[in-house]
Amino acid sequence: MGTGPEPAIASLATEDERVAPPEDFVADAHVRDADVLRRADEDWQGWGAEQAGNLRWLAPWQRVLDWTPPHAQWFVGGQLNVADNCLDRHVEAGHGEQVAFHWEGEPGDARALTYAELRDEVARCANALRALGVRRGDRVNIYLPMVPELPVAMLACARIGAIHSVVFAGFSAQSLVDRIEDAGSRGLITADGSYRKGRVVPLKEAADEAMARTDVVDTCLVVRRTGEPVAMQEGRDHWYHDLVPTQSADCPPEPMDAEDVLFILYTSGTTGKPKGITHTTGGYLTQVAATARLVFDLKPDHDVYWCAADIGWVTGHSYIVYGPLANRVTSLLYEGAPDHPAPDRLWEMIARHRATILYTAPTAIRSFMRAGPEHPAAHDLSSLRLLGTVGEPINPEAWRWYHRHIGGGRCPIVDTWWQTETGAIMITPLPGLTHTKPGAAQQPFPGIKPVVVDNEGTPVEPGQGGYLTLQRPWPGMLRTIWGDDQRYRDTYWSRFGEEVYFAGDGAKLDADGDIWLLGRVDEVMNVSGHRISTTEVESALVDHPSVAEAAVAGRADALTGQAIVAFVTLAHDAQERSDLVDELRAHVADRIGKLARPAEVHLAPDLPKTRSGKIMRRLLTDIAEGRELGDVTTLANPDAVRELAERARQEATSRSSGNSE
Ligand code: PRX
Repeated sequence: MGTGPEPAIASLATEDERVAPPEDFVADAHVRDADVLRRADEDWQGWGAEQAGNLRWLAPWQRVLDWTPPHAQWFVGGQLNVADNCLDRHVEAGHGEQVAFHWEGEPGDARALTYAELRDEVARCANALRALGVRRGDRVNIYLPMVPELPVAMLACARIGAIHSVVFAGFSAQSLVDRIEDAGSRGLITADGSYRKGRVVPLKEAADEAMARTDVVDTCLVVRRTGEPVAMQEGRDHWYHDLVPTQSADCPPEPMDAEDVLFILYTSGTTGKPKGITHTTGGYLTQVAATARLVFDLKPDHDVYWCAADIGWVTGHSYIVYGPLANRVTSLLYEGAPDHPAPDRLWEMIARHRATILYTAPTAIRSFMRAGPEHPAAHDLSSLRLLGTVGEPINPEAWRWYHRHIGGGRCPIVDTWWQTETGAIMITPLPGLTHTKPGAAQQPFPGIKPVVVDNEGTPVEPGQGGYLTLQRPWPGMLRTIWGDDQRYRDTYWSRFGEEVYFAGDGAKLDADGDIWLLGRVDEVMNVSGHRISTTEVESALVDHPSVAEAAVAGRADALTGQAIVAFVTLAHDAQERSDLVDELRAHVADRIGKLARPAEVHLAPDLPKTRSGKIMRRLLTDIAEGRELGDVTTLANPDAVRELAERARQEATSRSSGNSE
């Protein structure tokens, strides 16, 4: 943890710029009164309990919170079922005919699922899982594209008390193996394939490769999506369409303890091994339901809500599946790429469905900017009333573009800061209340206590920067890292003490005390809103026979926030070939997934090291960004470092003159 917070993308020059929520929005908003924040701050446990009270409990809790730092238990003794809350109670209340998901496949095929249909499909899938031997507490890996069966599979697990671990379908077979083995998942739910940018992605092939490398999985359910031929292993693999439709839709939801694990979701840490972030039932559902309702101002009878993320990430878990369904909202669910078959795909869908809320990532917004305002302008986006962003700091320019060209100048924007670990939104404007500032997440969600601290853990004054911490437990917080509680303690609760959650982000308070996020302060990169650890990419590179040593850094990138730059020294017997760089990039994609493929790979005679042999990471970032190096004479190898810097500078120059990629 040598590095301090560094200002990343958000320029602070705009902190005086404020956008007031429109009057007609305020008139109808769930939260209009700043007193909500004050009340929740004074009695944060009472506020949490009030939010939990919006759910259907099968047995009441005895205590709101047991807090033995750094372990929290919320709604102790209470029982509920997540699928029951997301589906059955709405159907029982007479809303069975309301559409839960308008799904659209990339090729244009479509399906609408009402709450009643979704409830029944989930119950049948749950019975199918039981028939395959899956029991309460078992782990089930889900490796599916954005098809309706993905939320169905998650909710089916929740219904019977199985723990799901969703692996983003863009991850490689090896990443899937690592996650299967860490969680000890006996079940796998996958598909024959999916469509992406007009191509078929052969998912079952990757799943087969994964299952060949581990004997943990004994049963595999396969959804037919593309119809391409796939291998089915007798006894292990079962077609979803053979097994699920014949099951009974009678499957009473299993009463789960509030603290039973709902899911594990892996995220990159500062070592090569991803962390199994573990979320439980009652607190998580309470927090995603409350944040979805109040941050997106959800009105179940009117809204058509669209979170254009992938369910494979936490954003999709919390704000495509659990938060919106707990609030009985109608959502859009889309399988494919936002620019396929044309750059206006999203805008055309919004206009056709009269979508009212859009939640997406700054990288996506920047790519829409690049494509040009004529694409949204060609469609009627007047149904939109609220916009959101998540995943990385949004630069004020992108914020203003989003506000103007997508929101028509009329929609409040909620810039929501949170993490896989926090489970739900922690820092955000409230759309009917906050005067928003382009580029700032600004304020705590009610009941949350973010504090920006200096190196010693002392809160900083307005105008200063430091480390972002959360200084109070919250219902949706992670409970541990699956199978490694020590790592949980070390990663989040050792930097500033056992009662202070260390988020790993730099932040700054402006003169008003509003929070601006500045990017990661650890060895984690953020590429297009996805967390990737430098060590993970380094491990993938050294796994290639030609590589002796590798070091990886993130550099600022105008589109993706950060881009991955790798420095590699070759093994003594390796040949420097012209195709080696491409091969190494492909190798990383193969090991981890395409999202981790380095933008640049530099073959280097040596890496910058101290005389004791430690790689100087800070210097690598300077080199990757083409900055002038300071004094390098104390290094073990100053000449090699200067040469490396020179090569990277040339690359940066050709990039800025538009010659690269
Ligand atoms: O660095 C922060 C950044 O994304 C990290 C969390 O990544 P992940 O667990 O994958 O979850 C992403 C979706 C919630 C954070 O540590 N981040 C997320 N939202 C923002 C953000 N940075 C700045 N502004 C945000 N709104």
